[in-house]
Amino acid sequence: MRGLLWIIIEGHLKPVFGIDGATSIFRPLAQPAQEIKETSILVLAVCAVIFIIVAGLLVYAIVRFRHRAGDEASEPPQVYGSNQIELAWTVLPILIVFVLILVTSRTIADIQNRKPPPGAVHATVVGHQWWWEIRYPELGIVTANELHVPASTGNSHQPTFLKLQSADVAHSFWVPQLAGKTDLIPNKENRMWIEPTIRGTYLGNCAEYCGTQHARMLIRVVVHSPDEFDSWAREQQESASIALTAVEGQKAFFANSCVNCHTIRGTSAQGKFGPDLTHLMNRETLGAGAISNTPDNLRLWVRDPQKFKVGCLMPNMQLTDQEVDQIAAYLQTLK
Ligand code: CUA
Repeated sequence: MRGLLWIIIEGHLKPVFGIDGATSIFRPLAQPAQEIKETSILVLAVCAVIFIIVAGLLVYAIVRFRHRAGDEASEPPQVYGSNQIELAWTVLPILIVFVLILVTSRTIADIQNRKPPPGAVHATVVGHQWWWEIRYPELGIVTANELHVPASTGNSHQPTFLKLQSADVAHSFWVPQLAGKTDLIPNKENRMWIEPTIRGTYLGNCAEYCGTQHARMLIRVVVHSPDEFDSWAREQQESASIALTAVEGQKAFFANSCVNCHTIRGTSAQGKFGPDLTHLMNRETLGAGAISNTPDNLRLWVRDPQKFKVGCLMPNMQLTDQEVDQIAAYLQTLK
């Protein structure tokens, strides 16, 4: 019972009343989330009015016509058929549904038909069990779990258009304060766009059950000013810095099978199964939001990722203490 209460409060009341804003669709901070919220409010309002009328009549009937002492045991008069009433409760719902269809399809068409303006950013998001691969084909950037985008300002519209793909099973990209959910389906490309205007970090998560670590498949959208975004992009475009301070670690990294799964641009590590590590140190978290990216956590992650994320595809490599220290030191040079 307490568990149920907790789910209701944590999962439904807190987000709606803005105590925990990140997951509230009622606190949108960008298009198209704003437009979706307006439609949702209208639908909720219409449904609330219907609910109040129906529940009110029901309660009235229950109270007014309840059994009273002295009532006869015989049946009350049975009344059949009224053309007016039947017509009213057929036509009215049809009209209401028709209005809701019109409003909803206008919003859907508005969002789906949006064409990228000249300054738009294009990115491809690929869902993996259990992390997000993020590519900017035009900018030549590959990263993971953090989608960086520019904010639109008063005079420049810079929305980000996303192509959504999956490498394995169905996932769903959901950052509630930016846009609605869109699924990432194997062998199919879905599209969506976001146009935030306020800088900051927006939290989201995979919204389609995709296996054991579905809950640890978090996404961050980092919204920069246009200038900041440009300098972020320039940094990301560079190849990995050559490690002069962690040569043993670099050797250990390349001697073990790390290179089979990870890419470090500018080196011979070209693996595609795991996240690109070229600028690993720029990311806030490890394991798609499983733990924060601190030197200690990085070391523990290299030692045994399964401890933080049971079932994730990176195995415990059975490295020696020395190798763990060296590889962690090398990874920390990937800024
Ligand atoms: Cu990916 Cu749930």
